[in-house]
Order: sequence, then structure tokens, then C-alpha cells
Amino acid sequence: MSERGRRSRGGRRLRILYVNGPNLNVLGRREPERYGKRTLEEIQRLVSDAAENEGVDVEFFQSNHEGEIVECLQRSSDRVDGIVINPAGLTHTSVPIRDALIYSERPSVELHLSNPAAREPFRRSSRIEDIVVGRVAGFGGYGYLLALYGILEHLRGKRFRGVR
Ligand code: DQA
Repeated sequence: MSERGRRSRGGRRLRILYVNGPNLNVLGRREPERYGKRTLEEIQRLVSDAAENEGVDVEFFQSNHEGEIVECLQRSSDRVDGIVINPAGLTHTSVPIRDALIYSERPSVELHLSNPAAREPFRRSSRIEDIVVGRVAGFGGYGYLLALYGILEHLRGKRFRGVR
């Protein structure tokens, strides 16, 4: 890995923020047949290890409160290079989270453990699907790793031409 792929334009290591919405603090105990048996802490450890291998920094935030997520996104805008967000149930409703993501001006990946498109009709719409660079859904906790590689690929400028 070249030094360029590890660093933001300012010369520091790339920094990715993971944001998790309501009820993801009880992962592992919450509908494990759907969301898996791993806790959020276990998933975050896997992501931290992968990030270390990639030579980038990650930070994690979880809240059950929409306003706290909005404030986290506002604070992140000049500190992080990219955002991975699983807004959980707020995916389908939250205009404030959409607006805060736009305010952050950071490339973002929308992430879900399950595949919402294959579930109840009300989960098929996302308030952020058109403002993210990509979406990962349906791969359980492993999706958190896929999203890391996806956002790094985007930040390092190796995107497939013509896709976005
Ligand atoms: C979820 C999907 C949402 O529809 C649901 O409300 C969640 C989790 C997922 O990761 O699969 O809380 O975002």
C-alpha cells in the first residue's frame, strides 16, 4: 500500500466514522436469526483490525436518538474523510439525518445487516439512498467490513468509471 492510499489530502491517516442508529446497541440479542449473533462491539473489533491492516483510522458512534446522530454527523464534517452509516429504523423516515449527511459533505456508505428490500414494504424506501456513494445490505456483520473496503476504494479514487 502506497502512503498516498493511507492518507487524506491534509497528510494525516484517512479516518472513517461508523454511525449506528436505534437498537443496534443490542445486536447479538436482537432477532439473532435476522441480524446475527455478533454484538456491535465484536463487529467493531473486526472493523478496527481491518482498518489497522489498511493503515486507516476508524471511530464508532451509536445512539438510539435521532438528534444525537444529527449532532454527531455535524461534528464529524471537518474531522473524518468518509462515513459508514446504518441508520437502522431511521433509514426509512429521517429527513434530519439526510440533511446532516448532506451538511457533512463527506462521502457516505449506507449499510444494513439485513436486506431491507426483501422485507416489509415500509423498509424498501431509504431517505439517504440517493445521496450515498454506495449501499451494502444483507451480509450481516460482515457488511461492516465490506463497507470499509467500499468507502476506502471510493476515497482512494479507484471507483469504476461510469458507475458514479
Ligand atoms: C437495519 C434494517 C432496518 O429496517 C431496521 O429497522 C434496523 C436494522 C439493518 O441493519 O438491517 O433496525 O438497518
